[in-house]
Amino acid sequence: MERQEDQALLRRELASLCEGSRYPRCAGLIQHGTTSVYQHCAGVAWISLRLARRLGWKVNTRALVRAALLHDYFLYDWHLRGQRPRWHGFTHPRRALCNALEEFDLGAQEQDAILRHMFPLTLLPPRSRIGWLICLADKWCGLCETLRVPYSWAPVEKFDIPFLTKLQKSR
Ligand SMILES: [Fe+2]
Ligand SMILES: [Fe+2]
Repeated sequence: MERQEDQALLRRELASLCEGSRYPRCAGLIQHGTTSVYQHCAGVAWISLRLARRLGWKVNTRALVRAALLHDYFLYDWHLRGQRPRWHGFTHPRRALCNALEEFDLGAQEQDAILRHMFPLTLLPPRSRIGWLICLADKWCGLCETLRVPYSWAPVEKFDIPFLTKLQKSR
């Protein structure tokens, strides 16, 4: 039941972010391996939710999902030298946050979670539970994508998200 509610929440927030924004562009940008930024962010949102449930943490799940979906909203192909800023690993959280704030309203926790998701590479740790969940889920998803294995207990193919299943099938 919880799982279905989480899937519905994720679908709803994805659809809302895609409306009249640059968000769909993330589907055309590669993050790791053959995984797009769109798939990566959906994966991080899903794993963050699962992790929160497993740990029994009471968090604002909508804020968690929105911050996870926007944590890599930097909107360039970081594999292309001409597009990638010199210190992409360090600078992209701020770029993602600035892009997100141009189009969406975000609370303090969501903003902090986006800004600090690269901890410990960037030195300041997340200040909230949602920040920690995203930080951990991001590492896990990045590792699985680089190794080209599913996100273990929560393969993204299992849920119907606009663009996502189609893209997965075309891999
Ligand atoms: Fe990132
Ligand atoms: Fe990420």
